[in-house]
Parts: sequence; structure tokens; C-alpha cells
Amino acid sequence: MEQTGGGGSAASQKTATLTDNETGDQLELPVLEGSLGPRVYDIRKLHGQTGAFTYDPGFTSTGSCASAITFIDGEKGQLLHRGYSIEELAENSDFMEVCYLLLHGELPTREEKAEFESAITYHSMLHEQMLYFFRGFRRDAHPMAVMVGAVGALSAFYHDSTDITDPHQRMVASHRMISKMPTIAAMAYKFSVGQPFIYPRNDLSYAENFLYMTFAVPTEEYTISPTLARAMDRIFILHADHEQNASTSTVRIAGSSGANPFACIAAGIASLWGPAHGGANQAVLEMLEEIGHKDRIPEFLERAKDKNDPFRLMGFGHRVYKNYDPRAQVLRQSAHEVLDELGKRDDPLLDLAMELERIALEDDYFVERKLFPNVDFYSGIILKAMGFPRSMFTVLFALARTVGWVAQWKEMIEDPGQRISRPRQLYTGYGPRPYVPLDQR
Ligand code: SDX
Repeated sequence: MEQTGGGGSAASQKTATLTDNETGDQLELPVLEGSLGPRVYDIRKLHGQTGAFTYDPGFTSTGSCASAITFIDGEKGQLLHRGYSIEELAENSDFMEVCYLLLHGELPTREEKAEFESAITYHSMLHEQMLYFFRGFRRDAHPMAVMVGAVGALSAFYHDSTDITDPHQRMVASHRMISKMPTIAAMAYKFSVGQPFIYPRNDLSYAENFLYMTFAVPTEEYTISPTLARAMDRIFILHADHEQNASTSTVRIAGSSGANPFACIAAGIASLWGPAHGGANQAVLEMLEEIGHKDRIPEFLERAKDKNDPFRLMGFGHRVYKNYDPRAQVLRQSAHEVLDELGKRDDPLLDLAMELERIALEDDYFVERKLFPNVDFYSGIILKAMGFPRSMFTVLFALARTVGWVAQWKEMIEDPGQRISRPRQLYTGYGPRPYVPLDQR
């Protein structure tokens, strides 16, 4: 693929030439450049001009959209939200401010932040009828199954915020989703442990409210630990958005048909649940508990390398990061801080995780494939220390990622060039053949 031309104006539009060596056909493809990151070959006219499709299962080389929300440089291990580094946001910002930034593109003024926080606070209650949905589940239902069902059910409630062509209704729907996810997550937990639901309070911050709804009981005062609230808020920031990952792409594709926004978020929750994606944080803890002792690490590393063994080192590897996931770096630091604060400094799981990371990063298999710890490697250790059961780990990921899904959904809806997503395929099935009557088969 040769690249010709230069500059950005139409006259000097950069192009690349695709040559089909069988037919001799040549196609000029526009080369588009973003503000950061790789340039792209614009193939939108390829099928119309050649009759051929491109082929990229798993989308390893495909840009599905233009977006200004999040930028990832996998080689550098860099993550920016609207240009601000995840390290600086985790250190200096809070989750409500990051939500505003992702939705509106700029850090809020003091007044804008106060107004946004008030809008989120005053949408945190659920319609009382929603409680009946929870009671329809078995008590041992996985909380992610409850989340998918409950969020999907929200699409039956808020008919005043589902006209996605109305900017005001889009913003109200966005606020409702961000605001109600902690309430739904906490209720999923309470239902699973047989405790009464705790209603949100308007005098608490977003993270404080979630901890309160999750861990308070009606029989006594619940004292919110500032350390846990800060750790919770930081964990939410680190999971807020991550470009076009599987669950975000699911939300975008669902939303591209004009579907109800709550139903689109339910689709994103379903995708995030998978162990290759957000479900990895629960799988990491299960893996660490199965390894049990650092003497068994070599055995599990050998299994991870064995192509005949489905076992993978959970919390390691990433489609984009070929360096440290910057979120994992922050979470490793937070793990030490939270465990120290909780008096669990010598948590054997953290020691085991650190030793596993050390050994893996010296192993050629992982080094050659640039497999580093990702966001899920340390998060479960912190969440377990904070008192969450492992079945709630991915629920917390979904809670935090809701703002990313909503911001990406909103950007897609507001894109004037937006069309329904409808990929094609490489067909490998039968050609046309006559029907065979039952008595002749
Ligand atoms: C998240 O996309 C995002 O942005 C996601 C996320 C977000 O914020 O939204 O960052 C959140 O989902 C993080 C990832 C959590 N998943 C896990 O930790 C599960 C374990 N990781 C792997 O399943 C895997 O690394 C993926 C799914 C994360 C990435 O898969 P890819 O990009 O399809 O990579 P691959 O399977 O092609 O792997 C390349 C090679 C293969 O070996 P070879 O065929 O080249 O010999 O690396 C190997 C893989 O077998 N490999 C692993 C491995 N991950 C990749 N081998 C052992 N253990 C692993 N964890």
C-alpha cells in the first residue's frame, strides 16, 4: 500500500493506492489523520467501487468511528480522557468531575460541577415498581444477571427521556443512567445477601452513597470511611471509559439502530460480563485463590502458555496495551494504600499477585507477546479488601463504565454522519441447493 500526496486540504488529500494484483484494478483510498494516533485508510467506498469487502474479525485493525472522548496509546501505555491523563485525573479529580468531562468535553467550573452533581444526586432513586423486578430473581442469581435485567427494565419506565433526537431528553437519560446504576448495583447486592434495600441519601457523595446503600443496615448507624470512599471514587475514575472496547462497541451498535438508551446500556453490561472483558476482575481473584501459593506459580504459567489448555493468565494481556496498562499501575499503588489503611497490609493475595507479576514479566512467553497486567489484575484485590464479594466486582466495573458507554452513545447519536452499523462477512457456507423432502433424507 503506497501513500501519495500530503497536507490536509481536499486538493492535497493524502491517498493510498490499493492494487488488486489479480485484476490489475487500482483504488485510491483517502488517508485520514486524527489529532493523535495512527492514520486510517478510509475504505467507505471500497465495496461500492470494487464489490469486495475488507475482512477483520475481532476488529484488530479497524477503526469503527471517529471519537474525541478517549485516546489510548498502547505502545506508550498512555490513556487520555479529553486530553487529560488518567494518572492526573486519578490523583487530582473525582468521579463526578470525570463524568462531566467525558460527557461535555471540558472540566467543569465550580458552578457547572455543583449543578451536575445535583442533577445526578436527584435522579438516584428508582421507581418503586422496579423493586418487584429484583424480587423475581433467585437469591443466588449472579448480580450481573440482575444488572442486565434491571437496567433493561428501566427502558420500560422513563418514556420522557427516550426521544433520542431531543438533546434535552438525551441529557436527562444520561443523568438517569449514571445516577441509578449505584442504586441498582447496591440493590443487587442487598438482594443476594437477603438484606433490605437501603435507599440513597441526597447528603452523600456519589461514592459515599454507593458504599452506604451497599453496606448500611437499618439496625444501626453506618459510618462511611473517607479512605474507602476515596478508594471507591478512584476505582470508578479508572474504569470510566476506554475507547472502543467490546462493551462500548456493543452500546454503539445497539444505539445505531435508534434503540432505547437504557436497553443499549443493558447490552453493554451483557458484553462486559464476559471473562475476556470486565468479568476478568472476578476471574483474577478466582485464579489467585486457585494458585494459592507462590510455589505453584510456575505450574500455572506453563498452563497459560499451553495452547491445548484453555487456562489464561487472567488480568494479563490487552488488545491495545503492549505496555503497562496505566490503570493497573494506579491500582497497584491504591492496593497498597487501601490494604494499609484497612490494616490488611500482609494480604497474601496481594503478595501472590505481586510475585506472579514479577515472574511473568521475566518470562519470554509474556515478554515476547507484550503481555502486561491490565486494569483487572489488581482491582479485585482492593474490592475484596473493601468487603465486596467477588460476584460484585464486574458490577462495580459496569457501574463505573456507564458514564463511558453513555458518553460514547451520545457522541454517536450526535454525529451527523451516523448510520446504522451493519457489517458484512466472508461467506463460507453452501452455494444454492434444492430442498430435500423429509422422506428422502
Ligand atoms: C478489559 O478492550 C478494552 O479496552 C478492555 C478493557 C476496558 O477497559 O474496556 O481494558 C477491560 O477487558 C481488560 C482485559 C481483561 N481480560 C483479561 O485479563 C483476560 C485475559 N486476557 C486475554 O484473554 C487477552 O489478553 C485479551 C482478551 C485481553 C486480549 O486478547 P487479544 O487481543 O485477542 O489477544 P490474543 O488472544 O490474540 O493474544 C495474543 C497472544 C496469543 O498467543 P499466540 O497465539 O500469539 O501464541 O497472547 C496470548 C494468546 O494466546 N495471550 C495470553 C494471554 N493473553 C494473550 N496467553 C496467556 N494468558 C493471557 N492472559
